Amino acid sequence: MTLHGKKALVIGGAVGIGRAVCQAFAAAGACVGVADRGWSEEKSSIVAELKASGVDAYCDEVDVRDEGSVSKVIQHAISRFGQLDILVNNAGMTSAGAPMHEQDSALWSEIFATNVNGIAFGMKHVLPHMLERGFGRIINTSSQLAHKPVPNHGAYCASKAAVTALTASVAQEVARRGITVNCVCPGMTDTAMLYKGGAAFVEEKLKALPIGRPGTVAEIAATYVFLASDAAAFFIGQSLSPNGGDVMW
Ligand code: NAI
Repeated sequence: MTLHGKKALVIGGAVGIGRAVCQAFAAAGACVGVADRGWSEEKSSIVAELKASGVDAYCDEVDVRDEGSVSKVIQHAISRFGQLDILVNNAGMTSAGAPMHEQDSALWSEIFATNVNGIAFGMKHVLPHMLERGFGRIINTSSQLAHKPVPNHGAYCASKAAVTALTASVAQEVARRGITVNCVCPGMTDTAMLYKGGAAFVEEKLKALPIGRPGTVAEIAATYVFLASDAAAFFIGQSLSPNGGDVMW
């Protein structure tokens, strides 16, 4: 599966799953813009890593809760590369969790602003360009928790279910215009986010997980390469689930 000649923007691409997606895209031959927030020296090292694969790469500051900020990084990618073929909306957040009757309302809003609004802004601002060109691949990051919700994480589970539904809705709007919109629903993946819910939560989930271990970021990234490639042209509004067997269908 090659992405040679393709130009990609990964929003939320500096660390974790997003960083692995950038690396996998570059290895497949795509030029990659990496948008994220709070760039440190360690995060910025992604640009040199990607360039070492022989592709063009750069990084950009974005806060996905701010529509203007999302629009700006998309316009920058289009002008920098001359076109944008692939957009990955991967930025997301979770929390330590709380039962619904103790849910902090500000945190609820922040989770939705990041996980849902951010993805909506990304699609809204890239689609005019993709519709004009008659080609595009949009890949949103949802979660297996969209399909198998857990207690005490209502905001996160509901936000990811919203991503899955939003993906399927928009996919139908543009399917006949050369654009595919799909989402990836990763299972437990070995990143900083996994441990936000506490060690006991992870231990409990792993006991019940058929494969018995979390996924690596590289195992998750492979699904994004597939969805971005020509091989996935017939995938419309799908939720693909690299999840170690936690949700099966
Ligand atoms: P992570 O915490 O390492 O990465 C999250 C990324 O989102 C970071 O790059 C962060 O800077 C960015 N981000 C968060 N808020 C932002 C904002 N307001 N503006 C711009 N960027 C922002 O976590 P991980 O695991 O790599 O998560 C990536 C995606 O995968 C998220 O959407 C997450 O919900 C999802 N996911 C993760 C799973 C896991 O087990 N690690 C399982 C299922 C889904």
